[in-house]
Amino acid sequence: MGVMHIPGHDHQKPQEVTLEEIQAVLGDCHLCPLGQTRNKIVFGVGNPNARVMFIGEGPGKNEDLQGEPFVGAAGHNLDALLSKAGLRREDIYIANVVKCRPPGNRNPRPEEIEMCAPFLREQIRSIWPDVIVCLGNFAAHFVLRTETGITGLRGRMHQTGHFVVMPTFHPAAALYHREWQQYLDEDFEMLGRWLADHPASPNKQ
Ligand code: URA
Repeated sequence: MGVMHIPGHDHQKPQEVTLEEIQAVLGDCHLCPLGQTRNKIVFGVGNPNARVMFIGEGPGKNEDLQGEPFVGAAGHNLDALLSKAGLRREDIYIANVVKCRPPGNRNPRPEEIEMCAPFLREQIRSIWPDVIVCLGNFAAHFVLRTETGITGLRGRMHQTGHFVVMPTFHPAAALYHREWQQYLDEDFEMLGRWLADHPASPNKQ
């Protein structure tokens, strides 16, 4: 029997569904049209007991070829940012709002996000992170259920349900908008301070 969970009461993890079980249900998914054009499903990767879970938008070209999130240029920027927060890739878990590459890197469509949503929700429940970092608008809108743009959300920690949420710019966006990089740097430094100031929740120890 699972442990009963009273929403809003504490940070107690609900009954565990493993990432492997979620991936098995996802299988060779063809629930939306992205299943026809993708190379590899990019399920997510990292520490299943991570304190910090990162959520991106969707796989790009390199991710689609390799089946791993954030392995291209955006991933290099992410690595540099992680070090500002005192984190390494092996500490964190990363997944995307949609698990298959939208052709030509177009934005994911509402119906594609809808079809993919249960898998990301289950990943969040399985990892039960202390902090969710939303990289860009799609992740922020998914997690915070708002239409406010990332510029109006970033720069502070939010709380939604059980989770502390840090919305910030997408690391790929800062490659085109160089002026955003300093905000990303500041946000990741804020994340590092938050992690240092808050002890890990009991399920992480
Ligand atoms: N951009 C994303 O949002 N996710 C990836 O995995 C790679 C680039």
